[in-house]
Amino acid sequence: MSSNQPYVTFHDGRRAPQLGLGTWKLTDGAAIPAILAATEAGYRSIDTAAIYHNEADVGQGILQCGIPRDNLFVTTKLWNDQHSIEASKLALRESLDKLQLDYVDLYLIHWPVPKENHYLGAWDGLIQLRDEGLAKSIGVCNFDIEHLQKLLDKTGVLPVVNQIELHPYFQQAELRAYHADHGIQTEAWSPLGQGQVLQDPVILELAHQLQASPAQVILRWHIQMGHMVIPKSAQPQRVRDNFNLWSLHLDDDAMARIATLDKADGRIGPVPAEFALM
Ligand SMILES: NC(=O)c1ccc[n+]([C@@H]2O[C@H](COP(=O)([O-])OP(=O)(O)OC[C@H]3O[C@@H](n4cnc5c(N)ncnc54)[C@H](OP(=O)(O)O)[C@@H]3O)[C@@H](O)[C@H]2O)c1
Repeated sequence: MSSNQPYVTFHDGRRAPQLGLGTWKLTDGAAIPAILAATEAGYRSIDTAAIYHNEADVGQGILQCGIPRDNLFVTTKLWNDQHSIEASKLALRESLDKLQLDYVDLYLIHWPVPKENHYLGAWDGLIQLRDEGLAKSIGVCNFDIEHLQKLLDKTGVLPVVNQIELHPYFQQAELRAYHADHGIQTEAWSPLGQGQVLQDPVILELAHQLQASPAQVILRWHIQMGHMVIPKSAQPQRVRDNFNLWSLHLDDDAMARIATLDKADGRIGPVPAEFALM
């Protein structure tokens, strides 16, 4: 894999680029130019999901970009109505067909849907898919501490990643501490707060001081916090700017100022304990 960017190492020993391209809402072919701009800029990680309805486009982007498969890190996700061993196996095979890939680097349960309480069956399926080599690593999204603990207690297998809503307005300190204690890599979705954090006065002031864009300040904060991070943009120039972080540095004072932006009601997306969309 390209080494001109930071990588994280999972508890299963595999490595992943810390910064990747998010693709939610990149439909009707829009993922293809985004992937071409991203890979040209140096991205080697792409995040999609069955529910984004763009896996075929992501597969096209991967084909067209010309980067050898071994140098890419591709993530997709299992949707909520497929929480069983058999359904998860069918679902990943369908995703791989659309992606035109033999394996994904990371396969994630998209939501725990605890009201249905079938996520243990899904996890058993992902363990088998990992053992079959169709997913190199397996993890989850949107799991609260109690859901993670149940996976550990019942299967002894912890996810390598928990991909969660995480941005300066919603910093999830308690969940991140659990991840750190258990060797689970935190991955931030909606890392820019879907654009809502870009106009924050503290972020704007730091951007001015550092001669960086607000998005670069926020993404650099994620990188220095140790998060994997997957900003999405449909605009090639923004895709490039979001990767241009490696000479930027936030000092302790800047990091402390961003820490103060956390809000009790900062969540934008659904509450994992309640979300049950099928
Ligand atoms: N696991 C889950 O449940 C889950 C949930 C949500 C998202 N995700 C993943 O996380 C990825 C990122 O989250 P997200 O797409 O919700 O939100 P995000 O990356 O926080 O923000 C995307 C928004 O910011 C804008 N933007 C991006 N770069 C910018 C820049 N440099 N300057 C100004 N505006 C910029 C984009 O607009 P333009 O496109 O117009 O540039 C878009 O409106 C998703 O794409 C998806 O892959 C996972």
